[in-house]
Amino acid sequence: MHYRLALVAVATLFACKTAGMQETNPERGASSASTGQASQIDENAKRMVAQGRDIFRDDTFGSEDYFGAALKLHQAIAGEKNGGVGGGVSPKTALSVGLKVDAERVPGPVAAGIKSGAVSLDDPASTLALLKVNAVVGVKGMFQGDRLSSLGITCAFCHSTVDDSFAPGIGKRLDGWPNRDLNVGAIVSLAPDLSPITKLLGVDEATVKKVLGSWGPGKFDAELNVDGKAFRPDGKAAATLLPAAFGLAGVNLHTYSGWGSVTYWNAYVANNEMQGKGVFFDPRLDDRSKFPVAARTGFGHRKSNDDRITSKLAALQFYQLAIPAPTPPPGSFDGAAAARGKTLFEGKARCATCHVPPLYTEPGWEMHTAEEVGVDDFQAKRSPDERYRTTPLRGLFAHAKGGFYHDGRFADYAAVIDHYDGFLRLGLDGREKSDLQQFLKSL
Ligand code: HEC
Ligand code: HEC
Repeated sequence: MHYRLALVAVATLFACKTAGMQETNPERGASSASTGQASQIDENAKRMVAQGRDIFRDDTFGSEDYFGAALKLHQAIAGEKNGGVGGGVSPKTALSVGLKVDAERVPGPVAAGIKSGAVSLDDPASTLALLKVNAVVGVKGMFQGDRLSSLGITCAFCHSTVDDSFAPGIGKRLDGWPNRDLNVGAIVSLAPDLSPITKLLGVDEATVKKVLGSWGPGKFDAELNVDGKAFRPDGKAAATLLPAAFGLAGVNLHTYSGWGSVTYWNAYVANNEMQGKGVFFDPRLDDRSKFPVAARTGFGHRKSNDDRITSKLAALQFYQLAIPAPTPPPGSFDGAAAARGKTLFEGKARCATCHVPPLYTEPGWEMHTAEEVGVDDFQAKRSPDERYRTTPLRGLFAHAKGGFYHDGRFADYAAVIDHYDGFLRLGLDGREKSDLQQFLKSL
């Protein structure tokens, strides 16, 4: 083998010389070695995407010990007739609080039964059947025989939806699309035992229910567990909209207030929101005045002996960075108006000074004070850097439901454009505003 390689090398050298080259190309060895490495990299990328997809869709990180064993949510879903408590949750109820069903995981006969009505959408037993085939997006049931014995959640719970191709709420999975129908608060409220939350926050059950009830569809409060702030000074819920987990490559800091990179935030959420088992380090959370709950519980120094998170972070991050922002459906915007809107976006309207194309956020440290974007600083102040991150705008159409800005304060495209027009004194006329709107829809 070595002997043959040497022969090839000598032959190559000779060939170069005879071809009149002064010297052998010093890159040569490296580049032929890199063909091997290149395919290694390609293989690795493929493997990471596949692993990351599985983790994103189906890994609970051990969160069943929280949602199942502690909150006993599985009992409320099963209902008394199926070994749980209360009336149970029918597929109809599950769909009404925004849960989605992955049609590709529903076996043919069950799908046919749903279409024909033979599988009742009013019967909690049908929900159990869907959980058993792992078809409820982001919710993983654990079974002992036919009995639902526990339940955990996955990233897809909040960050995937379906395309409704089978029926409303039932269809093909769309990873990274935030589920703006999902009423996380209403779902958690179903739990027969809310004491893990009352204990963590040091409040009574009625208060916890009031907080969960204040979020509404498409929202969740990812900072409540660190600062205990459930309401803003104006009395409105402190929750934020579920953001997109697509189109994130090239973007430096993540979350509305820029807590860290994708992998930072994945570790934060898997440990802190999903209550999975892992290791998490962030001494910024030791700040007692800003993060009283985290400082008290030592969340910034979490270390489980049974770490089910850390080994998954690399592939999980890789997968999210691989999810492209979706393309708006044909006919969903006016192309000529969008082209005029692009000129405005990059010129008179000054949007591109922060939303730099093609990332539509700033390369670099993409953070701004609340004053710079003309809103209050409540949510910014709940984060280490106390600023808002310039939202990457690609695929905006996929999360227009629920409104814009971190809390959805601007109900639609027109409202967010009016805000900038007034705040930045842009002096846009009606047609310019509508062109800009078409451009935002085209992103
Ligand atoms: C209960 C709902 C929920 C679950 C489960 C959840 N997230 Fe999130 N996620 C949110 C919310 C809400 C935010 C916004 C937080 C903020 O800005 O303060 C967020 C933010 C993010 C972001 C930042 C997006 C951006 O615009 O920069 C990423 C990436 C993300 N989550 C990925 C994940 C992954 C991966 C998992 C699983 C480990 C996960 N999330 C689990 C609700 C959830
Ligand atoms: C000074 C920097 C800056 C400028 C200029 C700017 N933006 Fe923004 N933009 C931001 C920041 C920061 C956010 C996040 C605010 C939040 O979530 O509270 C944002 C959010 C948005 C959102 C909401 C995205 C979402 O998913 O909720 C839209 C839409 C938007 N900007 C469009 C525009 C348009 C159109 C212009 C020009 C008229 C513009 N921006 C100018 C910084 C800027």
